[in-house]
Amino acid sequence: MDQFGRRIEYLRISVTDKCNFRCLYCMPPEGLQWLPRAEILDYEEIAEIARQLVPLGVKRLRITGGEPTIRPRLEILISELKAIDGIEDLSLSTNGVRLAELAPAYRDAGLDRVNMSADSLQPDRIRGISRRDFQFDPVAAAGSALAAGLAPVKINVVLMRGINDDEIEDFARLTVDHPLHVRFIELMPVGGMRELTWEHVVPSDEVLDRVGRLGKLSAVAGPARGNGPAVYYRLDGAAGSIGVITPMTHTYCGSCNRVRLTADGRLRTCLFGEHSVNLRDALRAGEPIAPLFLSALAEKPLEHHLLTMNTGGLRALSEVGG
Ligand code: 5AD
Ligand code: SF4
Repeated sequence: MDQFGRRIEYLRISVTDKCNFRCLYCMPPEGLQWLPRAEILDYEEIAEIARQLVPLGVKRLRITGGEPTIRPRLEILISELKAIDGIEDLSLSTNGVRLAELAPAYRDAGLDRVNMSADSLQPDRIRGISRRDFQFDPVAAAGSALAAGLAPVKINVVLMRGINDDEIEDFARLTVDHPLHVRFIELMPVGGMRELTWEHVVPSDEVLDRVGRLGKLSAVAGPARGNGPAVYYRLDGAAGSIGVITPMTHTYCGSCNRVRLTADGRLRTCLFGEHSVNLRDALRAGEPIAPLFLSALAEKPLEHHLLTMNTGGLRALSEVGG
């Protein structure tokens, strides 16, 4: 529990700071100053950190990046994490490009489910937003994950006004026939963005207004095993659901249940704070990390200050383990 009584049971594990995309809202086209290989935790180190944190209350793990699927043989880490007693949910966040190819191996290794980002359903636009030339169909990728037994599949859409907000209805309609959970995320103005500004933020109230014109929209509990701040709705008769995540218009910090481990072994208690504690050096020195974890929790901020913050001081999300 942190000093504000929030129960911290969800650990996000970044396995690489690198990515095969350069999304407009995340990284500059030239990439970032990548971490040197020796500073990145190996799978055994990551698993050891998780094993030491489970007795302190961590129950759910998510593997993230950068783009985690570019780390070779990730299924080895998946099976190590799955083998830890007390882990109730093991998920992965991905841009989906390699999902069709990797989903069966990940599932066999013990992965429970995936979240996929998809900011457009139009091939040209996908290339524009990701600044990469992949030929790739996000709906087919999500289908492969479901076919492999990774469920529920959540699809994250970061809305950017004038760039992809005309696809809100198309994404919403996807949930009618497919058991997919589409979550619209308010763009957060973080440091890695060049072309985007506050003007590109689309408030979720506007999204719900527009989706509500497609049919009757009811509040629902959302897919099982949710960890996060999304609020869910369903169109009448739909197989899937629609969620909104509102970092900009409504703060949900009061129910925050998470911390993150960066690829180089630092524990960050808030995505937007500077504060981190180095677990790697303690681990490599053979010292226990529980005391460091507890001291980090004592520093976890009550809330972020995205709305008042000067964006120039922030890092790209991928850099902090988005
Ligand atoms: N604003 C909102 N969400 C972001 N993500 C990354 N950068 C941002 C940003 N600036 C989240 C989204 C995306 C995933 C890669 O990380 O969920 O799908
Ligand atoms: Fe939690 Fe920080 Fe995110 Fe707020 S900004 S929800 S405190 S991680």
